[in-house]
Amino acid sequence: MSSATFSADWLGLREPFDAAARSRAAARLQLDARLAALRPATGTPWRVIDLACGTGANQRWLSPRLPGPQQWLMVDHDDALLRRIPEPGEGVDVVRQRLDLMASLETLPWHAAHLVTASALLDLVGEAWLHRLVAACARHRVALLMSLSVDGRHRWTPEAPGDGEVGLLFAAHQRRDKGLGAALGAKAVATLLPALRHAGYQVRQARSDWMVDGRRHTTDRHLMGSLIDGMADAAVEQAPERTDALRGWQSRRGELVAQTRLRVGHVDVLAWPG
Ligand SMILES: C[S@@+](CC[C@H](N)C(=O)[O-])C[C@H]1O[C@@H](n2cnc3c(N)ncnc32)[C@H](O)[C@@H]1O
Repeated sequence: MSSATFSADWLGLREPFDAAARSRAAARLQLDARLAALRPATGTPWRVIDLACGTGANQRWLSPRLPGPQQWLMVDHDDALLRRIPEPGEGVDVVRQRLDLMASLETLPWHAAHLVTASALLDLVGEAWLHRLVAACARHRVALLMSLSVDGRHRWTPEAPGDGEVGLLFAAHQRRDKGLGAALGAKAVATLLPALRHAGYQVRQARSDWMVDGRRHTTDRHLMGSLIDGMADAAVEQAPERTDALRGWQSRRGELVAQTRLRVGHVDVLAWPG
């Protein structure tokens, strides 16, 4: 088991693609209307817990959509990332808390929260942890917004030899234990939904795919290059005997970046007590 670490550079690279994907999903989730319906009583600020907040991308995207004043509890085990969360805008208070979600999930102030949210977390967690999350939310009837969970789809246009093999090895690598149990990877949302329904939640889901177009902009090319390198490294770790072939795929894919489109499948889930 190795604890998951994420660089602030990587989180910054993905943030605009996350934001665009979430905005498309928000319309399909009817997120604004649902958040308005969940709004706390007049005079009470939203109390939101952001699990595995990194540098705060989730709060930056979601705060403008929450009507009224807000208090955010931003939780991560990586102090360096927590320190990079910028001061929020008017009407939003942020408290940063360093915490290992495996050891201490239940110690969070669930009783006081109106909304628990996370982005790009669920595919890292194991099944038992997911059930602990649902139990903690259900006990206090807290709404959930879980964004940007990968669902295993990678569509390269044009395709290239090796895409399939790398995709399978990458998916296997994703299921390794990252400190929160054997990771569910692409199965995270399919595991979460029935658990939420069983706990009495109403559930909506919508695709929040990354659309990366190497023909478009340098930011697309940077993200795609970083994804190719990350996928190749993971695949090599998973199948070291295939190193030459996998490094071949990496360099072929790298040369094609400026003419390639890549769609990476993600799903957003919104749930509230029925
Ligand atoms: C993919 S990043 C997502 C960060 C942020 N939510 C975003 O969307 O930019 C996953 C985050 O999970 C955090 N993390 C991983 N394991 C954790 C654990 N056991 N306890 C708390 N945070 C953890 C990492 O430090 C990292 O910030």
